[in-house]
Amino acid sequence: MDKILITGATGNIGLSTVRYLLNQKEQDYQVVAAVRNLNHPDIIGDDNEKIPKAQLVKFEFDEPATYKAALKGVTKLLLIRPNQVSDVSKHIFPFLDQVEKSEVKHIVFVSIVGAERNRVFANHRIETHLKKMKIPHTIVRPSLYMQNLITLHGAEIRLHDHLYIPAGAGMVNYIDARDVAQVAAELLTKPGHEGKEYEITGQEPMDFYKIAGMFTNELGREIKYARPLTIKFIRQKMGEKKHLPFIVTLSLLYGAARNGKMGHTSTVFKEITGSEPRSLADFIHEYRKVWEK
Ligand SMILES: NC(=O)c1ccc[n+]([C@@H]2O[C@H](COP(=O)([O-])OP(=O)(O)OC[C@H]3O[C@@H](n4cnc5c(N)ncnc54)[C@H](OP(=O)(O)O)[C@@H]3O)[C@@H](O)[C@H]2O)c1
Repeated sequence: MDKILITGATGNIGLSTVRYLLNQKEQDYQVVAAVRNLNHPDIIGDDNEKIPKAQLVKFEFDEPATYKAALKGVTKLLLIRPNQVSDVSKHIFPFLDQVEKSEVKHIVFVSIVGAERNRVFANHRIETHLKKMKIPHTIVRPSLYMQNLITLHGAEIRLHDHLYIPAGAGMVNYIDARDVAQVAAELLTKPGHEGKEYEITGQEPMDFYKIAGMFTNELGREIKYARPLTIKFIRQKMGEKKHLPFIVTLSLLYGAARNGKMGHTSTVFKEITGSEPRSLADFIHEYRKVWEK
């Protein structure tokens, strides 16, 4: 029986992957959630134990002493680089060295759209490192997560009625992190994905004027697309104490959108899962309370 270790198990992708795997009817695998805090509220939270059956193991990328125990008996690994871990030589490669010595026979890495061609991205360096390893791997490159509209832009929509995003008139094709998680779960549990690289997007590319209009329709008040200059956006996010390398990555992605490089649609989600990815309109409807006054 495979033992699957999920890193970033309390985050957007990790938590949804654990839930997805544990909700399957037939489970010929064991799931281990690698967490920094064994009492994390998302793990043992109030609402019916959010990950009821997951085995938890203490794990920190910056604490090599946690690596060996976390990898004990593990045969498959979902690798997620936390946004705040940008020095990958110091905090991710030593972990991968330990993985190389373990029983792991397949690594699925959640990278990001464009990482294969953008050397500035920390995920690019991880992709390059994985290619030098002996263990087979699969790379998933999702487009921007819909959840960013909550975590990064939620407050400005709720308080200031605008989307403060430097993407000009460019398009993006948002994907729901839960759909990325479903793909990750499939790649971890079904054969034939070793050595593959998959870009995944949502259903439809759209510009931020259209997205602002969708918020306006859903919330019943006008939400504008503010379209700031990149430098103003960077200053604003620094003021919010977001991690600088993450702000730079985000700015590059919005710049790519501005230059027409994020407006495509991938069919990978449907090919792997047999269904359509969630739509942005449904996501905005589902989470409307987040942006209500
Ligand atoms: N945002 C996007 O639009 C987007 C799109 C495509 C790809 N990505 C990629 O997705 C990745 C981030 O995934 P995510 O959004 O699922 O992450 P996330 O929601 O930010 O969660 C980060 C996870 O990593 C854990 N973590 C933080 N620091 C850690 C450390 N030092 N050691 C061990 N675990 C640690 C956190 O645990 P705690 O709960 O303890 O903090 C949490 O479980 C990044 O590589 C990013 O490039 C993002």
